[in-house]
Amino acid sequence: MTTNISPMKIVVVGHVDHGKSTLVGRILNETGALPDGKVEYLKDVCEKRGMPFEWAFVMDALQAERDQGITIDTAQIRFRTEARPYVIIDAPGHKEFLKNMITGAASAEAAVLVIDADEGVQEQSRRHGYLLHLLGLRQIAVAVNKMDLVDFGQARFDEVKAEIVAYLNSIGVEPTFVIPVAARSGVNISSASPETPWYQGPSVLGALDLFEQARPDSDLPLRFPVQDVYKFDQRRIIAGRIESGRLRVGDTLVFAPTGKSARIATIESWGVNQVAAVAAGAGQSVGITLDEQIFVERGQVASLAERAPSQSHTLKARLFWLGRQPLKVGSRYKLKLATAEHAVEVIAIERVIDVEDLANHQGAEVGRNAVAEVVFRGKTPIAHDSFLDNPRLGRFVVVEGYDIVGGGVIAEAGGVQQAHKSTNITAVEHKVDGETRALANGHRGGVVWLTGLSGSGKSTISMEVERQLFLKGWQVTVLDGDNVRHGLCSDLGFSPDDRAENIRRVGEVAHLFAKAGMLVVTAFISPYRADRDRVRTIGPDAFHEVFVNTDLDECERRDPKGLYKKARAGQIPEFTGISAPYEAPDSPEMVLETTGKSIDECVAALIRYMEANFSLTAREQTESWGF
Ligand code: ADX
Repeated sequence: MTTNISPMKIVVVGHVDHGKSTLVGRILNETGALPDGKVEYLKDVCEKRGMPFEWAFVMDALQAERDQGITIDTAQIRFRTEARPYVIIDAPGHKEFLKNMITGAASAEAAVLVIDADEGVQEQSRRHGYLLHLLGLRQIAVAVNKMDLVDFGQARFDEVKAEIVAYLNSIGVEPTFVIPVAARSGVNISSASPETPWYQGPSVLGALDLFEQARPDSDLPLRFPVQDVYKFDQRRIIAGRIESGRLRVGDTLVFAPTGKSARIATIESWGVNQVAAVAAGAGQSVGITLDEQIFVERGQVASLAERAPSQSHTLKARLFWLGRQPLKVGSRYKLKLATAEHAVEVIAIERVIDVEDLANHQGAEVGRNAVAEVVFRGKTPIAHDSFLDNPRLGRFVVVEGYDIVGGGVIAEAGGVQQAHKSTNITAVEHKVDGETRALANGHRGGVVWLTGLSGSGKSTISMEVERQLFLKGWQVTVLDGDNVRHGLCSDLGFSPDDRAENIRRVGEVAHLFAKAGMLVVTAFISPYRADRDRVRTIGPDAFHEVFVNTDLDECERRDPKGLYKKARAGQIPEFTGISAPYEAPDSPEMVLETTGKSIDECVAALIRYMEANFSLTAREQTESWGF
């Protein structure tokens, strides 16, 4: 027996002509949800007017009452089975409905898709099926309606079933049940009917009862977005609202995106007469103190280590656009997710959906009141869940200036998973420090990060720099994109997230080399500013960004590996400069203009820069020997 008495929210989608209203009318009738005498009254009216009674009239009558404001509950139709109460969220295709659903303001837990057995899968059915994908629903009953028109024939049912299942699968939707139905006569609505002896599955209501209700927030993994950090005497109190899950004194919290962790020392109570709590759960606003002084700030999300949210630079989202200016690829916004505010850029618009007719098309921009599937990219990693897994960390609003211009939900959690899986680790100190190494080598360690288009000259220049500096006795090496992708990063491709991970790994390795006293020249396209900035934060003093500035035309003319030609022919997807972006550095430490220069000139310029910045001065060397 379930103790959860909140109604299960469902949507019924499908073309009106396919019998959507009839099905809903029938469901209400079978569950005794219609006002007493309503059906008899309408049957009477029909008889007097000499027209056949339709269940859809019941819906029309209810709608008329709602329009007049007689029923208080405007957009919701309620009914109950023995298992539990239900509420039908109404009016698919309607703008307000879509807005509420897409922004996560309302959300359905299951859906019924109605298809006409006689007509089969039509463009309209595809659009309604697409709506299910858009709403991210996983519990779906397809009602193949009007089976009476095809003499309850199994062959026709199987045909329509195969067609709709194939379509739904093609858009990533897996229907749970496909049910032969004759809504008008009530076949397979509330129980198995004799007309379809060949069908063994549940009735429509039986199917609904088999669906799982969303778990209450308190049963979901802990999500505690930090609202503020207050300093009281020696203590730092971390305040926020527990969005989901529970926490208790002694739990080890991990904070995203830093990955820092510490245990909860106390849960502070607000107000005077309160007893200090040892545990708190979803919906409560609490202040906690930790057993260690780690860096925590507003916007971070605390969770338990084993059930941390996903983290990635890119987010695939479904959004409802309200902005006066259209959303475009390349536009920058603020994305507010829980208490965090992320600077994001739109890097792809995968689909734009017309809310009126649900037609979807590829678009370069998203106008006001349209729904779209887009990909955002943040400057820093964004902690999130998919809306289906945890709505609390799965929805966001988009802000431009001070205006909310859109809202949406995260379609799939993804990207680089929470990078900080290790716990119970303590760093140990080296006994040889950087200064000692520098004195031994005559130069400091560091990272000289070359960035630029493929074919801009990064590899050629860096290999020659390595050779010449080596001959001078320097500890120097090169990390090169194509080489690293043969080993350390052989599992990565060229999607934004894979590139982010490529650059993250290389950045960590380069800084390890630098700490070991070496000079590391790296040759990676590293097209995204945010990825390079992240590498800089690993060791800001050691990091020097060098922009190898060769324009696209020149790179394409050189085309040393023949890749531009292939990319132009459509044989390499997401090729930087052709079908994927390159973001030039805003303020690199050095710009190497290669156009019109020989390789030797570029090499000489970089060596001069490196000598000026990394070699120890004579004074530094002599002072260290105590002269
Ligand atoms: S990065 O974007 O992640 O920094 P990286 O420098 O490691 O890229 O690798 C770039 C090299 O991979 C290019 O020089 C080219 O030889 C090869 N390559 C293959 N596919 C692509 C692609 N889609 N975009 C860019 N480079 C590609």
